[in-house]
Amino acid sequence: LPRRHTSLSEIRDAVATARGQGQRIALVPTMGALHEGHLSLVRKAQDNADHVIVSIFVNPTQFAPTEDFASYPRDAEADIRALAGLGVESVFLPVQEEMYPAGFATGITIGGPATGLESDSRPHFFNGVALVVTKLLLACQPDIAVFGEKDYQQLCVIRQLVRDLNIPVTILAAPTVREADGLAMSSRNRYLDEDARRRAALLPEVLRDTLQALSECAGADRQEEALLRKSIARLTEGGFRVEYLSLRDAETLAPPTDDSRRLRLLVAAWLEKTRLIDNMAFERP
Ligand code: PAJ
Repeated sequence: LPRRHTSLSEIRDAVATARGQGQRIALVPTMGALHEGHLSLVRKAQDNADHVIVSIFVNPTQFAPTEDFASYPRDAEADIRALAGLGVESVFLPVQEEMYPAGFATGITIGGPATGLESDSRPHFFNGVALVVTKLLLACQPDIAVFGEKDYQQLCVIRQLVRDLNIPVTILAAPTVREADGLAMSSRNRYLDEDARRRAALLPEVLRDTLQALSECAGADRQEEALLRKSIARLTEGGFRVEYLSLRDAETLAPPTDDSRRLRLLVAAWLEKTRLIDNMAFERP
């Protein structure tokens, strides 16, 4: 079984002990309700370190008052069983009182890749993510930390954060793990009822088809815009309410210039009461 640490002093002791034995330490930050996507991050961490810490903390500062903080799925016992199956050394389950004690008054404001996309509808989100990830990195002081491409903008934001604050950690990215029908795994997929779950597969299908069409239109800006509009219409017909479908520079997340070669197609869309996000890589010909 992994060792459970709930206090900062416990996790610091565990890290000090592992370091004393010359071990490389990896951190995989999560909010729990673990699925194969999370577990693939753990395996990547294990391939690159000796002692893997998985943190499980539903971080209140990244949820708006209208969002699903209270109802976000929580099942620490099932999560720990899944991590035991992989042979994870440590699970860090910080408590609210120690992460955000009464009187907490510090924030992080992040721009650059945090601008636009998710931030258009969730302006609080990346400041909350940056704050909690900074706290987790300070608590665990890992050599590496692993994040999923599923949340591609978040991955870019974390890289920016680590660079700007000179945090001595190497960020590794792991590819998106998908269900058999292509839907990206997510803790929030369990909000989908049977019918919506079936229809949700249209999201990755449209992303894939859009990339195919883009690869055939050789980069002309206007054509790209028209293709994106057609894809949005297709999602709308399929019952989605699209917040954005956007082609960005894969490095900066800014709108691509004529010189941008590595691009990323990113989408956020509501299916009934569930907000889904996904993204795929695109290399301009
Ligand atoms: P959470 O949604 O639990 O995701 C934890 C990590 O798992 C993130 O790096 C995310 O990108 C990755 N992940 C989720 N689904 C995935 C999938 N299908 N394939 C590959 N990786 C996947 O993201 C968060 O938590 C929080 O914002 C956090 C970073 C922990 C800060 O609170």
